[in-house]
Amino acid sequence: MHPVNDLRWVKGRHGNVWEHQAKECQACHGTDLKVGSPLARVSAGRVFRIEDHQIVRLTKGQVVTCTLCHSWPRVND
Ligand code: HEC
Ligand code: HEC
Repeated sequence: MHPVNDLRWVKGRHGNVWEHQAKECQACHGTDLKVGSPLARVSAGRVFRIEDHQIVRLTKGQVVTCTLCHSWPRVND
């Protein structure tokens, strides 16, 4: 499992790790990355201030999909 509630992971590292371990990400975040799975449920409320104008809030129990914060990567189209 990767770091949770960590802005360094959210703003930086995960994109690079995805490049090398895509299948692992898909195992929890869903094959097409847009629907997610029960393995990607948020365990507590989170607020990520990505930029001053972009604040992402996750609520407990929500499934994290990859298209929640941006429109990439796309695997099926
Ligand atoms: C074992 C299952 C699992 C795998 C494998 C996994 N994730 Fe996650 N991911 C989760 C869960 C669960 C959360 C929600 C954590 C939380 O916020 O409580 C999450 C959240 C995230 C978040 C939001 C940050 C956060 O703290 O909620 C990002 C970004 C992310 N994952 C990217 C990735 C990437 C990229 C990969 C592949 C390198 C990946 N994940 C692999 C389970 C997984
Ligand atoms: C909580 C918000 C959030 C979630 C969820 C999230 N990302 Fe990201 N992702 C970001 C931010 C912020 C950036 C970095 C910077 C940007 O906007 O260019 C980024 C960057 C990336 C990059 C690098 C893009 C580039 O142009 O270099 C990739 C690849 C990526 N994410 C893949 C994923 C995958 C795969 C998942 C799901 C497993 C995911 N992201 C989920 C916020 C998120």
